[in-house]
Amino acid sequence: MSATQRTIFSTAVGTALALFAFGCGEPSDAPTPPKAAERAPAPPPAKPPAPPPAPANTQDTPSDQSALVEADAKAGEADYQIFCASCHGPGGAGDGPVAQALTPKPARHDDGAYMNPLTDDYLFKVIKLGGASVGKSPMMAPLGGSLSDQQIRNVIAFIRTLADPPYQP
Ligand code: HEC
Repeated sequence: MSATQRTIFSTAVGTALALFAFGCGEPSDAPTPPKAAERAPAPPPAKPPAPPPAPANTQDTPSDQSALVEADAKAGEADYQIFCASCHGPGGAGDGPVAQALTPKPARHDDGAYMNPLTDDYLFKVIKLGGASVGKSPMMAPLGGSLSDQQIRNVIAFIRTLADPPYQP
């Protein structure tokens, strides 16, 4: 090696070492890239689409029509006393304490001549969506927010027991 070659060589080695040292000697406080960024993000787990949120109980058709649960007049009576008797009276005679203040008066559920021709579907709609939904008084409140479809069907079954003359399905 000539003197010139040696100089070039040592310069080259020195440069290489310097670069090497520089490359390795990163300041310890250099921000390390977040681990997650080094890996490809895992594909999201294949989830079945979320079921739609339960609809509010505001449709006029019984959603559990096909659920072969017998309407239970006895259970319906309990709900009737809580939700209906204040206006319609405990026996459906339209003589609840609130009835006096109402015009038109609450229907008499014991009046078979009036009630018996009304279909279950119609009654269901009146009770669930309120009188206004069938062109009746809005004082007949929509009770779908308080009663499930099954409870409404139970109440209808109870109302049917009040009718005179008796209701014949
Ligand atoms: C705040 C008083 C009030 C409550 C509570 C109430 N109703 Fe009524 N309801 C009325 C009034 C008033 C009418 C009469 C509406 C009209 O003739 O325009 C009526 C009418 C009805 C009718 C007859 C609809 C028709 O076509 O004539 C049915 C059936 C009925 N209500 C069922 C119920 C049931 C069942 C409940 C309880 C789950 C209930 N109501 C709770 C006030 C009430």
